[in-house]
Parts: sequence; structure tokens; C-alpha cells
Amino acid sequence: MTPIVSGFSKLSKSDKIKWLIKHHFQNDQNAINTLTTYWNSDNKLQQLHDEFTENTISNYYLPFSVAPNFLINNLRYTIPMAIEESSVVAAASKAAKFWQTRGGFKTQVISTLKVGQVHFNYRGKKENLESFFKDIKSELIASASQITKNMEKRGGGIVDIELRDKTTEIDHYYQLHCTFQTVDAMGANFINSCLEQFASFFKSKAVSYQDFSKEEQNIDIIMSILSNYVPDCLVTASVSCPIKDLPNTSELSSIEYAEKFVRAVQIAKAEPYRAVTHNKGIMNGIDAVVLATGNDFRAVESGAHAYASKDGKYTSLTDATIKNDVFSFSIKLPLALGTVGGLTTLHPLVKLALQLLGNPSAKKLMEITAVAGLAQNFAAINSLITTGIQQGHMKMHLMNILNQFNATEDEKKELITYFKTNTATHNKVVEQIEKLRK
Ligand code: MEV
Repeated sequence: MTPIVSGFSKLSKSDKIKWLIKHHFQNDQNAINTLTTYWNSDNKLQQLHDEFTENTISNYYLPFSVAPNFLINNLRYTIPMAIEESSVVAAASKAAKFWQTRGGFKTQVISTLKVGQVHFNYRGKKENLESFFKDIKSELIASASQITKNMEKRGGGIVDIELRDKTTEIDHYYQLHCTFQTVDAMGANFINSCLEQFASFFKSKAVSYQDFSKEEQNIDIIMSILSNYVPDCLVTASVSCPIKDLPNTSELSSIEYAEKFVRAVQIAKAEPYRAVTHNKGIMNGIDAVVLATGNDFRAVESGAHAYASKDGKYTSLTDATIKNDVFSFSIKLPLALGTVGGLTTLHPLVKLALQLLGNPSAKKLMEITAVAGLAQNFAAINSLITTGIQQGHMKMHLMNILNQFNATEDEKKELITYFKTNTATHNKVVEQIEKLRK
């Protein structure tokens, strides 16, 4: 069994690697080589990456790709995407190209509110707590003025604080439910700092509140934390075109295509097993932009999936309709994104990704990201209802299989040409490699 190590984080990078190699890799030098191959030769850049987090021993690369030809509100964008899945960027580019000649994507930010909560126990009369809250509410907000002053200069700040009674769910449980406007920042640090200030001010004021009994004065703060559930930080994106402008093949007329597409979305709305995969495809596009622009994809993921089940049943984030011979397809989801703070100025590739998008505001980035999600879903459904997903997927995956088998450049060239006209499956690719090598 691996021994317990104490003070690991204080070891130098090379001592951490030595420990790891000794206890997990039987002193295999290849493991050291793999780790060090990914070090950046620019020491300053490497140090920057080392300091993003703790116990860093190497860098984990993801491809940084771009999907061009996105027409969004009549402006053209090339969208940066950081993702490893083979067919995602190709699918986004294909959808962008399709819609650019059909009016492009239209978007709208519906709301930009974020939420944080102070969770506490209060044992006493609810009316007394309500009076206390009413009496101190403005002081409570003002108590965070040192934290909020810069945010206020940028047009954001604390929007409101509500006292919420949650005692029907848990005995003595109340909340300060706080809403914030964080403008171009994702705002997690700002919100959490405000909340911790509210919690300490609230508790300290209660101790000397005359109308409280001794027990009521003793407010017990459980925790103060932002919520990644942001149903009031919403954006929509949509596309639409006359049905006659949809794909029209010998197998599927435009109207059949539109009806099959709408049916596929209806299924994702009705059936959670399908909805999860349908939304996963949407998140392929969303996460890739969120990562490339240095945002928190875990926050976006949890917020999006919570929103997808807001009515008590997990459902599709997109919707498709046919009305008056027009096909419309749209997405609505919460996206808590930032274009200032965090990694945005620190990580050189994040900075470049934002430059590529014209240094957007957080609202603009919400719109672009929603478009990437909608485009991805369009491409996925398009494949699913026509050729099936594997044809395109395996075409893109071909290179991964060839690399697995250390194919030479000549072998790659030959096999890529071969699989242009033959369906690629894992076995077929392996078979062809072996045939070539005989
Ligand atoms: C694969 O990463 C995503 C899809 O499964 C999405 C979908 O089924 O809609 C293709």
C-alpha cells in the first residue's frame, strides 16, 4: 500500500515527482519523461501554470480549436473551443456554415442575476426575526460597502437581500437569500466575500438586538456561499428558416426532415434518458467555449442541468417548432460567465480566445456560448435523424485510431483516402492497418 505522505504540497516539484515515481510507478523513468515532456520551456509561463493550483507536476493539454463562420445577430464570429472529443468542432463549424446562409443565429440575454445565500439556524419567534431583519437590512447591505464599491462603479453590486423561512423543510432553518449583479465578472469571489460579511454582521447585530430573547440573539450561521443555480441569469439563442430551405434528399424531403427533427426534440423533452444525452451534446459546445474563455465549466454544467429539471422532470434545453411553414429551433439556459477577473487576463490562451471574440462583455459571451450549444445540438440531431452519428464521428475518430497504432504519415494518408469512401469502424480501421503492413 502507498505510504501516507505529509507535507506533500511543501515539497519541490521535482521531489513531488520523485515521491510519485517511487511509490506509484516502481521508479519507472518513462513516467518522469511523460510528465516533463509537457513542461513548457518558458520558465515564466510554466511557473504561471504551476501557480494556478496546488501540487502541479505537469500540464494537461486539451486541443485549442476554432469554429469559423458563425453569424450571430448579423456579425461574424470565429468561436474558440477547447475540447478533446473528435467530432465536436467539425460539427459546430458545419452547423455555423449551414445557418450563415439562412439568417444566422439570433440571441438575447434575458436576465443576469446571480444568487448567494447565508444559511443559518434561529430559534425563536419568526416575527421577531422579521422585525430584526427589517431594522438592519440597509445597514447589512452597507456593511459590505468596502467590497462592493468597485463593483458599483462598474454598474453592479448587491441587488437585494431577502429573509427566507425554510423551517417547513428543516427545523429552525432560515436564509438570507441575496441577489447580485456582477456585470462582466463571473463574480464568485465577490459574492462569497459579500456573503461572509453579511453573515458576520448579521450575527453580531443579533447579539445586541433588544427585542430578541437570549436564545434569539444567538443566531447560528451554518454557511455562506454563492449558488450555481442561476435561473435568473438566462440567455436564449435561436435559428429559423422556411422549411423549403432545410436539407432535402432522396431519402428525406425538407418537410419530412423538419418533422423528424421536431420529433427528435419532442422525445428529448419527454424522455429523461434521451434528454440527458441530448443536453450532453449541447454541453459539448458550451463547455468547449466556457473552457477556452477561462470560465468555470463545473458551475455552468451544474447550473444548466439544474435548470433542465426546474419543473421537476429532467428535460431538453432546446425546443423546435414548425409554424406557418417555418422551422424554428432555440435554446434557453442559464450561463454565469465572466470576461474579467479569474483566468481572463492571466492565461495567455484565454486572453487570446477573448480577443478572438472581440473582447466581449459577459452578456455577449453568454450569447456566443448559447449559440455554440444550439449549433452543437443542431449538428447532433441532424446526424441522428439522417446518417446516424457514427459516420461523422468515426471519420473524425479515425486519426485517434491511427495514432493509437503509431501509423506513419504515409499510412495515414492512404487510410484517410480509403475511409473517404468506406465506412470506418474500429475493427475496419485496424484491419486496413494490418493489411497495409503485411
Ligand atoms: C456525443 O458526444 C453527443 C451526442 O450523443 C449528442 C446527442 O445524442 O444528441 C451525439
